[in-house]
Amino acid sequence: MWLTTLLFPAAAAAITLDINSRSSIASAAGTAAYNMMTYYTGNQTGQVPGDLPGSLSCNPNVAGTYCWWEAGAMWGSLINYWQYTNDSTYNSVVSEALQFQRGPENNFNPPNQSRSMGVDDQVFWAFSALDAVESNFPEASDGQPSWLSLAQAVYNFQTSLWDTSTCGGGFHWQVYSFNSGYNLKITIANGGNFQLSARLAYITGNSSYADWANKVWDWMASSELFETSGGMLYIWDSTDSDNNCTSADHYVWTYNYGTVLAGAAYMYNYTNGSSVWESRVQQILNSTFSLFFPSEYGGNIMSEIECEPHLNCDQDQKSFKAYLSRWLAVTAVLVPSTASQIMPKLQGSATGAAGQCSGGGNVCGEQWYLTTYDGYTGVGEEMSAMSVFGANLINSNMAPLTLRTGATSKSDPSAGGSATGGPASLVEKPITTAGRAGAGILTVIFCVISIGGAWWLIT
Ligand SMILES: *[C@@H]1O[C@H](CO)[C@@H](O)[C@H](O)[C@H]1NC(C)=O
Ligand SMILES: *[C@@H]1O[C@H](CO)[C@@H](O)[C@H](O)[C@H]1NC(C)=O
Ligand SMILES: *[C@@H]1O[C@H](CO)[C@@H](O)[C@H](O)[C@H]1NC(C)=O
Ligand SMILES: *[C@@H]1O[C@H](CO)[C@@H](O)[C@H](O)[C@H]1NC(C)=O
Ligand SMILES: *[C@@H]1O[C@H](CO)[C@@H](O)[C@H](O)[C@H]1NC(C)=O
Ligand SMILES: *[C@@H]1O[C@H](CO)[C@@H](O)[C@H](O)[C@H]1NC(C)=O
Ligand SMILES: *[C@@H]1O[C@H](CO)[C@@H](O)[C@H](O)[C@H]1NC(C)=O
Repeated sequence: MWLTTLLFPAAAAAITLDINSRSSIASAAGTAAYNMMTYYTGNQTGQVPGDLPGSLSCNPNVAGTYCWWEAGAMWGSLINYWQYTNDSTYNSVVSEALQFQRGPENNFNPPNQSRSMGVDDQVFWAFSALDAVESNFPEASDGQPSWLSLAQAVYNFQTSLWDTSTCGGGFHWQVYSFNSGYNLKITIANGGNFQLSARLAYITGNSSYADWANKVWDWMASSELFETSGGMLYIWDSTDSDNNCTSADHYVWTYNYGTVLAGAAYMYNYTNGSSVWESRVQQILNSTFSLFFPSEYGGNIMSEIECEPHLNCDQDQKSFKAYLSRWLAVTAVLVPSTASQIMPKLQGSATGAAGQCSGGGNVCGEQWYLTTYDGYTGVGEEMSAMSVFGANLINSNMAPLTLRTGATSKSDPSAGGSATGGPASLVEKPITTAGRAGAGILTVIFCVISIGGAWWLIT
């Protein structure tokens, strides 16, 4: 307490956080959750359950609009919130949202979204279904599909999209080839499917999922997306199948590292402690710490280094720290040897975030290393703060459940439809990049036109 006060003397309006008190942390998470949910209108009459404002035609460069994938991610962050704090305020809204957006094939490819569907978009909704499985979040009633089957349906849909005709394998960013950006094979799509497969292996014990996860990992590791140099592992954002993936861009994002880190952590635990996976986890972790916890701010405060220092993160990017926070916490329990390294980073980041949550009504900004509110808030900022607070509540009793350790969600290995069976209207209504916004392409465009990315950081 004393230290907090000393560090943030002027932050009278910041969220009060005693990092050693569970009730104080839970209360901070509750404040951020409440502020985040002020943006949600999908439970009001005439609105679409599950969507955030702008989900039907989002553009991450327009303030106040949120792409469909981010809403999907938000529901998972609220499942963790309930799991870590026991506050069930949002549970029924979350349950309705996930089921409403599951689509006719129960695989999170609903008609309003499918013509611009990205592998990454879909997988973030699947992650939230898995969060539900791993915490025994109450199943929806009335015979609606189980949380586990929804994630299995996404897996079944996506495996048929694996493409060996270029780059020796990998997933395209886009599901449908008529969408711009299809040419890119990006980390969040491949790493996302890798994590999905690893979690299904961990939950069900079915080795088919693990075989698939190994295959996706091997492809990523041998591609230009992964580059090791000087003791660092760089996980770049994208490669381009138009040049057979012979080069990568040079941008690093917290969510790419978090996605791949957690997938490796699940594989480590699923394999009962394989040394190969342990060293992969440790390598990703080391690089995550070096890149995203800058020593100039003491080395324990997370920062989205590509855009945050200049406050030009787009709507998607503002939420990325939420995922790294949550997945660092899960890694700490799945790979116990990492806990003592991870917890100081989560504590420092939460303390920093609390100081930054000093806008009117305790709304949260982005720059956790500053206690002066930076003036930018929204779903991404609130979700990131809520998630880093909640991450500090995790302990070994909250390890993700498996079907062997008490998860009760029903498995259906053959759930869902197939990639080729999409709605017929798809072919008639291709849309262009300008009209869509997943995670990857606008990231790329944004970087090219802004600060030139992080090349300077590493050369
Ligand atoms: C919608 O959800 C919000 C956030 O949980 C809640 O405050 C609000 O009362 C709900 N509105 C309706 C109409 O259910
Ligand atoms: C699709 O969009 C229409 C029009 O806004 C809306 O009525 C419907 O509920 C939406 N469905 C889903 C699953 O989002
Ligand atoms: C494309 O890349 C893959 C994987 O590196 C390689 O096996 C293949 O030969 C390349 N194809 C062409 C046409 O260069
Ligand atoms: C891990 O250990 C359990 C319990 O001994 C065993 O049933 C399971 O098959 C092992 N998993 C792997 C991937 O070896
Ligand atoms: C897997 O995770 C559980 C739950 O945190 C933990 O008790 C166990 O030690 C982990 N397994 C290994 C091999 O570290
Ligand atoms: C990670 O960093 C620690 C401490 O700097 C070092 O001892 C270890 O060898 C590194 N591990 C890997 C896999 O890079
Ligand atoms: C394991 O998963 C694979 C791939 O989805 C599926 O084909 C198979 O039926 C599953 N096996 C069991 C025993 O559930």
